[in-house]
Amino acid sequence: KKWYAVIGDPIEHSLSPLMHNTWFETQKIDASYLPIHVKPQELEQAVASLKLLDAGGWNVTIPHKEKIIPLLDVLDDSARRMGAVNTVVRMADGRLKGYNTDGLGFVRSLEEQIGSEKRQLRVLIIGAGGAARGIAFALESTGYSAISICNRTVSKAETICCELSQNAQALSLDQASQELDDYDIIVQTTPAGLKNGSFELPFNCEKLKSTAIVADIVYNPLMTALLKEASKKGATVVTGIGMFIHQGALAYSYWTGNYPDIVAVKDKLLANLG
Ligand code: ATR
Repeated sequence: KKWYAVIGDPIEHSLSPLMHNTWFETQKIDASYLPIHVKPQELEQAVASLKLLDAGGWNVTIPHKEKIIPLLDVLDDSARRMGAVNTVVRMADGRLKGYNTDGLGFVRSLEEQIGSEKRQLRVLIIGAGGAARGIAFALESTGYSAISICNRTVSKAETICCELSQNAQALSLDQASQELDDYDIIVQTTPAGLKNGSFELPFNCEKLKSTAIVADIVYNPLMTALLKEASKKGATVVTGIGMFIHQGALAYSYWTGNYPDIVAVKDKLLANLG
């Protein structure tokens, strides 16, 4: 029997075990997926143990996404560009390969809802952390051609813009609020809407266009303050649950060679959001 895992700290609220085990069951694959609590100082030991105990692969979540890199043998381009790994695959020869499926997971979720014909529209990414970086690269490599990034610390937005191959623009949150009507797709990547440890994002939606598409990567709560406001203005809203499902589906496909059913699992996950 094959087995997979997710390692993180904290880990008890992860919905990944429910999602992957549902897929294994549906596809009649004899495998299971476990949550494993790994504290920062235990990471190296945990990776050695997963290897020894023959795990087929695992997901990596906060706070290990960057720290795990030196413990792996090979990095996929997605992980190298982002400097972060969320999926590890044990290859046939036993070596460990790191991927990052977060960015592409976001783009798949976005296009599941809005289609792939809107890639020439102007995109504004809010935030410049690891999630923003992955999303910016994935949008660019999918063909989105006009990207701006706004952040509390503008220099961090500038760094990502310089690494992109297009002429991306870095803005302050204030500037972005004032020019919001220039943008068609807004992507919120900070933890601003999160249920616990939430903070108020100094970002003003007054100028949001009613035709805009607003996506948030936070999925608990599903409707963040930003999405509620966007919805009131008539904008199209993309919740974070789709990105979560798609990043998992990509990982699952790397492990098993099969793409799972991403529609059926959604209701089950929504029913389990605490
Ligand atoms: P991740 O890697 O998961 O994306 P991160 O690197 O901690 O997380 O990034 C968090 C993002 O939220 C950053 O853009 C951060 O802004 P700074 O770069 O200025 O730190 C943003 N953020 C966090 N707390 C914030 C706050 N109180 N107000 C505005 N932005 C905040």
